[in-house]
Amino acid sequence: MTKRFYITTAIDYVNGQPHLGHAYEKVITDVIARSRRGLGEEVFFLTGLDEHGQKVQQAAAAEGKSPQEYCDGLAESWRAFIAKLAITNDDFVRTTQPRHQAVVSAMLNKLHAQGDLYKAPYRGWYSWKEETFLTEKDRRPDGTFDPSWGEVTELVEDAWYFRMGRHQRWLIDFIEATPDFVQPSNRRNEVLGFLKSETLADLCISRPKARLSWGIPLPFAPEYVNYVWFDALTNYYSVPVALGDAEATAPLRGFYQPSTLNPQLALWPADVHVIGKDIVKFHAVYWPIMLQAAGVPLPKKILVHGWWQKDGEKMSKTTGNVVDPVAVSNEWGVDAFRYYVVRELDIGSDGNWTDAGFQSRYAAELANGLGNLVNRSLSMLKRYRNGVVPARHDELAPDAAKAVTSTVDELRQYHLQGALEAIWGLVNRANQYVDQTAPFKLAKEPAQAKRLDEVLYNLAETCRVLAVLLTPFIPDSAAKIAKQLGLPDVPKLFTEAAWGGLQSGQVIGEVAPLFPRKDVAK
Ligand code: ME8
Ligand code: MG
Repeated sequence: MTKRFYITTAIDYVNGQPHLGHAYEKVITDVIARSRRGLGEEVFFLTGLDEHGQKVQQAAAAEGKSPQEYCDGLAESWRAFIAKLAITNDDFVRTTQPRHQAVVSAMLNKLHAQGDLYKAPYRGWYSWKEETFLTEKDRRPDGTFDPSWGEVTELVEDAWYFRMGRHQRWLIDFIEATPDFVQPSNRRNEVLGFLKSETLADLCISRPKARLSWGIPLPFAPEYVNYVWFDALTNYYSVPVALGDAEATAPLRGFYQPSTLNPQLALWPADVHVIGKDIVKFHAVYWPIMLQAAGVPLPKKILVHGWWQKDGEKMSKTTGNVVDPVAVSNEWGVDAFRYYVVRELDIGSDGNWTDAGFQSRYAAELANGLGNLVNRSLSMLKRYRNGVVPARHDELAPDAAKAVTSTVDELRQYHLQGALEAIWGLVNRANQYVDQTAPFKLAKEPAQAKRLDEVLYNLAETCRVLAVLLTPFIPDSAAKIAKQLGLPDVPKLFTEAAWGGLQSGQVIGEVAPLFPRKDVAK
């Protein structure tokens, strides 16, 4: 049994409104998941929701609902959101699921039994909004806390701690020895800088039930619930355990009773955790230490993406400065949304959404670039050859091969933007080929019939190759191209992008524009 390529997104706060940032993270993760399937790997893609904590408890109370009822309602809209974005996740985790809670309890019990947890009084400044204690470092030069923390008050209470501090040296050594663990490298440097300049404190992992009841109780001290980040991070591991991944379950022996073991399933360790830049410390410091302490193998990579703004400013519901990915997808097609966010920035850089930028890429790259190529290539094949594919000819084969090689190379390195650039290299080359060979002129000269056959084959076959390469990015459009070519299926593997797949004599299907041109009211 081979291990699956296991990839995750962060789990979103259920009480937040799904927005461009969430959509972006899911789309890039989906492109990676689909591209690994294209490489012939078995993939397991997990996304889901972070449902515990103060804000959920308060929001539910404000609506007169139980927290569970409140979460159940929102979970449906989150699921609809990811379905709308054509996300191919294999599972959907919610931290309120018993399968998840059982694993969190087992982790806590194991750490407790090993002496990794202890109780001590805690005095500190607490941000209610962010549900976190602040440190002296969080103070501004004038001694106050930034208003973005919301209300901050001093609390003194008994608390449970996780002995995190003693792992500092080990973690520095590990990250130094594992250059790919945190990617891109500026984020890795940030983590190392933090670990080398500050003393890592033990982590408070409890909240008194009196203040916060909406959480997973500490199994050995039920008057507390578990700190929401300890709970949330564990989702990446709890799902493999719950699904019966034997290797994942082994470290919990004696603390967890598997109800199923699935010998066909090997997920853990995760291959990639995709997250945004604001939660690097949780994933690159807390999470590896939690796992190391529990004797669980570490994930292979934390892939950190940047943040989106709109029109150069932070997105905010209050000011209405937001991008609604669902509205954009309804108006322009989900593929146009997916294309724009992946093409606009490399993973790691920050992005700035402008409607003008979106529309200009739509017009230039989708409608006039890809759409026009496919439409005119197949329309000419219909018109001049009755839709019957002529004999194979290899004039564009080297260009296609080059595009396939670089696309796959870029995808293996998670350079999604670079992969699209490689694909558009072929789109542009083929559009140029139409202009150079001028099939509409050839069609008027009976003596050029053979040449016209050649040109039409090269164009149709290029469209087929493009459908293979585009599937991870714009799956609906890739399927449309395949259908217009009259292919029974969308090709699923990148190996099918090898030149010559289109058979002579094959009859193509109905031709229709992929990306209708739009006149946008100014
Ligand atoms: O942080 N641009 O949830 P969350 C790009 N529950 N990405 C953005 C973004 C933006 N403007 N805004 C948010 C949480 N994100 C925790 C995670 S994981 C064990 C627990 C990204 O709903 C953000 O960086 O606030 C994060 O990766 C994800 O959306 C969920 O954010
Ligand atoms: Mg957030």
